[in-house]
Amino acid sequence: MKGNFRMRDGKIKLISVVGARPNLVKIFPLLDEIKRRGVFKSILVHTGQHYSKDMSEVFFKDFQLPHPDIYLGIGSGTHAQQTARVMAGFEEVLMKERPDLVIVVGDVNSTMACAVTCAKLHIPVAHIEAGLRSFDRAMPEEINRIVTDSVSNYLFAPSADAVNNLKKEGFKEENIFFVGNIMIDSLMRLKKKSADSAILNTLGLNKKDYAVLTLHRPSNVDDRIAFENILDAVGEIQKRVKIVFPAHPRTKKVLRKFGMEKRFQKLKGVILIEPLGYLDFLQLMSNSRFIMTDSGGIQEETTILKIPCLTLRDNTERPITVKMGTNTIVGNDAKKITNVALRMLKVKPEERISLPKFWDGKTAERIISIIVKKKRPFFI
Ligand code: UD1
Repeated sequence: MKGNFRMRDGKIKLISVVGARPNLVKIFPLLDEIKRRGVFKSILVHTGQHYSKDMSEVFFKDFQLPHPDIYLGIGSGTHAQQTARVMAGFEEVLMKERPDLVIVVGDVNSTMACAVTCAKLHIPVAHIEAGLRSFDRAMPEEINRIVTDSVSNYLFAPSADAVNNLKKEGFKEENIFFVGNIMIDSLMRLKKKSADSAILNTLGLNKKDYAVLTLHRPSNVDDRIAFENILDAVGEIQKRVKIVFPAHPRTKKVLRKFGMEKRFQKLKGVILIEPLGYLDFLQLMSNSRFIMTDSGGIQEETTILKIPCLTLRDNTERPITVKMGTNTIVGNDAKKITNVALRMLKVKPEERISLPKFWDGKTAERIISIIVKKKRPFFI
């Protein structure tokens, strides 16, 4: 099926989907651009995969996002429960609204569930962040990436390696668009504003006098041995540099389950806090010595900020961050994490001259230009 968008009332009817915290960071520049063009009837759907104030609401405030037009209230559950609830809820939305195009971002369960629901109803899907692959199918996100890409009409890739992955998997060139990294749009827009954040004062920190830790991958926190390994490393590193640890709800839950809270409290160099909003976290990252994380987005943000990043995983779907020199894959072996972290305290980060292509703050503009220009795309 191909042809023009239906352009009811002279406008393209577009649904953008968010579900989890990183989705909000990716949708913000896009919604701005959609509004600026004035050719869309835009509907924002929040699945409610993340629902806590500090995982969702604070981001709406930091980005000054409009309230979602439709809130599905899906909440937490097993993978199948969460995915099924999103699909059932979103199907009703699609039947009622019959959009011309649905935009999904990233790799969370909501992304995959909404993309599949669209495909079954023959509604075109645009996937932003297409083509990233960790080649580790034990990661729920890897399954989400593969499935989402396989049913998407527009594959908006953030980097050249993502484009190559898609080509190797046999996607047609006409469906692949190398547009750059949408998260960097958000970062560039809000970097200046984040400097007004009082987070360093609130936590009693001086610039470049601390490291940051974030953890939430099931492979690190749901696995007791992996979590204890990381904790051993944190125990050593905090003797040399303060570590700020904004703990994700999944991680806090597991800390309680494994009875590890006391062990953390004994570590005087660790500052355990609630998850932060975007502006506070950006300010915290920007002034840190280095970051230890299992997040995907933080690997990319530290690349632009030129902050050393230790990725507490065995692989990354963002190899370009390693190529650029800021990211080191350290896994969850206590000795390796400690050694690399302590080395980071000694070396001055190299000033790099180049950044990944199209990580320039103009990705949203490129994406919307393509959507506006293109006819209704081919189904794959
Ligand atoms: C999800 C994404 C992951 C992404 C991460 C960012 C999937 C498979 N995983 O992982 O790719 O990197 O979001 O944060 O989609 N919880 C709360 N409040 C909330 C949300 C969650 O308390 O607002 C707790 C619940 O106990 C829940 C647990 O966190 O069971 C995990 O939430 P879930 O959405 O299943 O996965 P995340 O670990 O957040």
